[in-house]
Amino acid sequence: MIQCPRGTRDFLPDEMEKRRFYENRLRHVARTFGFREVETPIFEEAELFILRSGPNVLNELYAFKDKGDRDIALRPEMTAPAIRMFVNGMSNDPKPIKIFYFGQCFRYERPQSGRYREFFQFGAELIGSATPQTDAEVIAMASSMIENLGLREYKLRIGHIGVLRQKIADAGVPKERAAEVLQKLDKKLYDEARPLLSEMGVSESAMEDIFDLTETVGGVEVLDKVPGEAGDWLRQVVSYLDAMGVPTPEIDLGVVRGLDYYTGMVFEAEAPALGAEKQICGGGSYTLSQLFGGEEVFSTGFAIGFDRILLAMEKEGQTYEPVGIDAYVVPVTDDMRMKSAEILAMLRRSGISSDMDIMGRKMAKAMKYASGARARYVVIVGAKELEEGSVTLRDMASGEQTLVKIDALAQSIKGRSVPVHLGVQERIRARDQLLRPADVPVAHLGYLGGQGLRVLVEVPYAFGLHLVFAAHLLDHEFRIHHEFGFGTA
Ligand code: HAM
Repeated sequence: MIQCPRGTRDFLPDEMEKRRFYENRLRHVARTFGFREVETPIFEEAELFILRSGPNVLNELYAFKDKGDRDIALRPEMTAPAIRMFVNGMSNDPKPIKIFYFGQCFRYERPQSGRYREFFQFGAELIGSATPQTDAEVIAMASSMIENLGLREYKLRIGHIGVLRQKIADAGVPKERAAEVLQKLDKKLYDEARPLLSEMGVSESAMEDIFDLTETVGGVEVLDKVPGEAGDWLRQVVSYLDAMGVPTPEIDLGVVRGLDYYTGMVFEAEAPALGAEKQICGGGSYTLSQLFGGEEVFSTGFAIGFDRILLAMEKEGQTYEPVGIDAYVVPVTDDMRMKSAEILAMLRRSGISSDMDIMGRKMAKAMKYASGARARYVVIVGAKELEEGSVTLRDMASGEQTLVKIDALAQSIKGRSVPVHLGVQERIRARDQLLRPADVPVAHLGYLGGQGLRVLVEVPYAFGLHLVFAAHLLDHEFRIHHEFGFGTA
């Protein structure tokens, strides 16, 4: 049997539904911060990544020659592609440019829990602005995304790579060898850094100073130890975060970041539940555009390791319950099949997710399949009821069965049930999740299905159409399950 390649995964429908749900939450947060989505190719000229990180990056790249003898690499991250895209086609756009992306990245790493060869990043870049408020905006969005997913235990740390870069330069480390040293400091490998630094002529006391700096961790007061502009900068970043209601991150001058293009503020978030591979988010400010043929433009960005953050949530015991379909149509006998197909199509046109048996199963087996498909209702189509233009509607959670006219079936499935008494706040939240039009009232909150908290929400749109989506109410908040579809009320 052929398996998927080492370090990659298949996502089955339940898992995929969960991933889409959380992805969409992240998209939603990004949009509320004024960022817009972009997409770049999965493979790029290998040079793009070599320019960014030096030839050593080839070790971790999936790189190959294509049939035209071009050196190609699968992207290991999306900042370089995003900045290439900016240089190619957006450099004249009004600044700042706020973009976000979601997609898979590839690194030839040794797979382990939370570390894959194909993994997914949700990232954002704010291009063309270099102010403390820019950095705060990006950190605030990262923090808001983590909060919005519902991860409880995580730690956000911010630092300033400029301080460390200056310190090692002052100690005598040549510019072209800074990356080598920073890599060791990133992993706190002091024993390996020592011989390297002494080979470069760095004195013992300067070395200790460097190590001390990377161990400097604490609250805002730590910034008193950071001389000059960098300290003032971070103080302002923290003040802006404070103004935006983001809890003060830990100040950690040992945040080095593995990638070597950062120039100023750097930050990371980790989830302790994950053990070894606990970093769930990383970012900072940098300039890359000049490397790709553009002008030097300052940017700040970050990427969330989507797989890792989901893993961390799972470790915290968070579960996601797949939504299932609204209705499953079951013909009592074979001669009811054609009529059942007709009813099925009518339900689908009304925006009700529905299905029926196409394998010729008998009633009992079809009912079993319906419950496996988490159908909320089963529509039983029998000859006797049909004579009166009716079908039997069975609520799968309660087992309650009622006779319903076919004409009223769709409305009955949507509007049936316990009326949803939502408070004003819930209504506003539901509305907030609608991307447009922004201020329409939620006109109709449909049925509560068997699981208690699921609702179908309809919002008047235009031309007599209604936006219809399924959501469920969790912690007094709507979680939208199906992307918007249109239906007529
Ligand atoms: P990074 O720290 O290399 O930064 O990756 C960001 C996140 O991707 C990590 O924090 C981690 O959660 C996740 N990640 C990395 N490698 C793997 C892997 N093999 N398996 C699973 N998850 C992984 C960047 O990539 C930068 N481009 C971030 C950035 C954007 N900086 C500025 N803008």
